[in-house]
Amino acid sequence: MNDILPGEVETWQFLEQSAREVFGYYGFSEIRTPIPEKTELFCRSIGETTDIVEKEMYTFSDKSENSLTLRPEGTAPVMRSFIQNRLHHLDPVSKLYYMGPMFRYERPQKGRYRQFHQLGAEVVGVEDAKIDAQVLAMLHQYFVHIGISSVSLQVNSLGCPQCRPGYRQALIDYLESRLDNLCGECQRRYQTNPLRVLDCKVPGCQSATADAPSVLEHLCSSCHNHFEQVKGYLQALNIPFVVNARMVRGLDYYVRTTFELVTDQLGSQNAVAAGGRYDGLVESLGGPSLPGIGFAIGLERLVLMKGEQQIAPATPQLFIAAMGKDAADRAFVLMSQLQAAGMRAEMDYLGKSLKAQMRRANKLNADFTLILGEEELQSGKAQLKNMSDSSQSTVTLSNLATTLWEKLGQLSGSS
Ligand code: HAM
Repeated sequence: MNDILPGEVETWQFLEQSAREVFGYYGFSEIRTPIPEKTELFCRSIGETTDIVEKEMYTFSDKSENSLTLRPEGTAPVMRSFIQNRLHHLDPVSKLYYMGPMFRYERPQKGRYRQFHQLGAEVVGVEDAKIDAQVLAMLHQYFVHIGISSVSLQVNSLGCPQCRPGYRQALIDYLESRLDNLCGECQRRYQTNPLRVLDCKVPGCQSATADAPSVLEHLCSSCHNHFEQVKGYLQALNIPFVVNARMVRGLDYYVRTTFELVTDQLGSQNAVAAGGRYDGLVESLGGPSLPGIGFAIGLERLVLMKGEQQIAPATPQLFIAAMGKDAADRAFVLMSQLQAAGMRAEMDYLGKSLKAQMRRANKLNADFTLILGEEELQSGKAQLKNMSDSSQSTVTLSNLATTLWEKLGQLSGSS
């Protein structure tokens, strides 16, 4: 679990602000749900035999012996809230987004943490393949907006309750014939969760499943057509993608379209975003029979990818250097007035010498420094130093704000 410090947080704010902006263009509204939920919610939605539910949840009993879990992901809580607040009565199509911490007790490594943050989006109420493409278009556009292009979109279809069982059985039969070549974990789970075997990183399992049956060859005609339409709309929108029939997701609620945005910049944690359809989920949680689709982006992974391009913290526009108590008191009032008017202004609080104050103004990277002493208080005029070219000009204190805004305007105009 990480602290996010000043200097780093600016990149987070940029990524979050960009999401608000881009998701807003697509008609999404923010939803905020509590961090703990009833444990049962995650067991029922993510699936009892998944790694998340079997091994990774932060589960505890509260003082009334209710079993609660810190949310390991956002989709189930959002669907719980959707049902509880009857959001489908407000609009037949709900477009929701969220951002915040999630918790999984995983083995930490680069790009994988126990408290991590997701930026997620969900659409409830539309089966049409246009919405699959729309959600992917929004994800694509978000990455364009934040300036990350080194990602590739992989898509797959996992079929539906009609065609998945046939595929599952075909896969179990195939795996059974190669059981000796599978690792212990896969030998244990090939019956309960055969699709996960396709995703196993152990080389023996990878070669044993190289010729495993493809899910795409087992889709029923309606899933096949739906997937064809999704691909067609992505092509119409010029969104590049590759089909990866071996893509498996670690959550059981997915049907039909699934996808991942992958990068080769993060070592083994190569998925920066992932998602898919979960058409039966709302109903299985006690809600109306409505389809859903969404994704979540891993914010820590995005921050790692932004790397060099980190956003610099905002620097003061003005530093007021004061000599003597009276000047410091006047500086304090002037600074406070400018801050209240929306200017980033700073001064010294530690009684430092003028030289030390000028050094600090430099270190903080202030645009301008105003020098105030006895004489300046009496004359009502002071020297304003442009810190980038060291030029000085005389300013009238009664007119300080107007002069400063003008000069700051010229500065941003010339940069
Ligand atoms: P997920 O694939 O489990 O899907 O997680 C989505 C993304 O969250 C991953 O691609 C990754 O970037 C990030 N992530 C997951 N675990 C960690 C971790 N331990 N440390 C850092 N980042 C991590 C879901 O959570 C689904 N709820 C996505 C979804 C939304 N599907 C439909 N709607």
